[in-house]
Amino acid sequence: MTRYEIKGGNLLEGTVTISGAKNAAVAILPAALLVKGKCRVENVPDISDVRILLDILADLGAKIHHEASGVVVLDCTNISEKKPNPELVRKMRASYYLMGALLSRFHKADVALPGGCNFASRPIDQHIKGFMALGADVEETEDYVVLTEGPNGLHGNRISLDVVSVGATVNIMLAATLLPGQTVIENAAKEPHIVDLANFLNTMGAHISGAGTDTVKIRGVESLQGGTYAIIPDQIEAGTYLAAVAATGGNVLVRNVIPKHMDCITSKLQEMGAKFINYDDAIRVQSDGKLRHTTVKTRPYPGFPTDMQAQICVCMTLAQGISRLTESVYETRFFGYCSELTSMGADILINGKTAIVTGHEKLKGATVRAHDLRAGAALVIAGLAAEGTTQVENIHFVERGYERLVEKLRALGADIRRIED
Ligand code: UD1
Repeated sequence: MTRYEIKGGNLLEGTVTISGAKNAAVAILPAALLVKGKCRVENVPDISDVRILLDILADLGAKIHHEASGVVVLDCTNISEKKPNPELVRKMRASYYLMGALLSRFHKADVALPGGCNFASRPIDQHIKGFMALGADVEETEDYVVLTEGPNGLHGNRISLDVVSVGATVNIMLAATLLPGQTVIENAAKEPHIVDLANFLNTMGAHISGAGTDTVKIRGVESLQGGTYAIIPDQIEAGTYLAAVAATGGNVLVRNVIPKHMDCITSKLQEMGAKFINYDDAIRVQSDGKLRHTTVKTRPYPGFPTDMQAQICVCMTLAQGISRLTESVYETRFFGYCSELTSMGADILINGKTAIVTGHEKLKGATVRAHDLRAGAALVIAGLAAEGTTQVENIHFVERGYERLVEKLRALGADIRRIED
């Protein structure tokens, strides 16, 4: 079993460079399936979800060349129509983007249902609704989704999402890009990676407008050609380092960020007592580790991200007073880590969608298990701030989304080791 061993209590100081955004990468790499030509993608994070996705694409016949660290050249000109390898598909969540991408490219797709972080029931009915509106016939079994061209052919359409869904917005954008006619997605998600995907596709010749607002328009084109594109920095990785410094105390320059994307996170950490200086593409965070209570409600972008819920919860466990943390995207997300934090001395009462967190001056080291990616990151922060030694088990979840986490934290002065038994 591989685990992190963390001796807590060190201040974090120095500079950390944020990697390319996981959630943008896992949308942009399948988007290369739409392109006949070479896509040179920069700022690709070296994380396990990306490696799995590249394996799936290679198995479909994509030519993949790692040009340099973080630079991947993909050529999907001659990919085959075969079914994506189900074992690989089931290893990650965002493999469902293969449905939209293959539907666009081949007018059919036969994709296993995805796996990945299981912190809540994660339906895909809005993706399916979108595919059907675009003219696809959909056959769902327990394990597979099979998409075929319906009797009236595939075409653009107007789709109003019943819930704001990142995944459905991405999948419909992918599916509609190469279809005739115009597609309009209403009540679309506005996350930075939606904009990044649109920018990638437009760079390759697509006609997508409105990404970043709640109405995205896609005017279908016949083909896309190759080009070069750099993925945006990871908002959540950056937020995790900011929260870590807020919790442990210290002074860190977080480089390669888009400060605007970070406002929803820094505004809350600032209320808790951390200090921030924004530069063009960096943020300095300073904290004496003495935090105040606050109230946070997760929301779709530009609200406070659900993917930062667990990390800010750790800050709340160390803050003076009683904080309230309400989850409005994935209600069961607290169960992935709150009991682990309790074993470290945290005082958290879950009341429906809200966690009531009574802060204490210290957490104490313990052996804890990551149950999903962000929960695992939160346990690492807790370990960094705690007295004594913390063992974080199940770290394959964490390595799904954080590039060189141990190396980056050690460079900031943390005492963390990756141990393989
Ligand atoms: C994406 C992110 C994930 C983040 C989440 C919310 C990626 C690869 N993953 O996940 O890190 O936690 O956004 O910001 O970008 N829903 C439905 N039906 C659907 C789709 C979603 O009811 O067909 C619901 C979900 O249950 C959830 C809400 O909509 O309550 C938002 O989910 P969604 O935005 O789709 O999340 P993901 O795309 O899976």
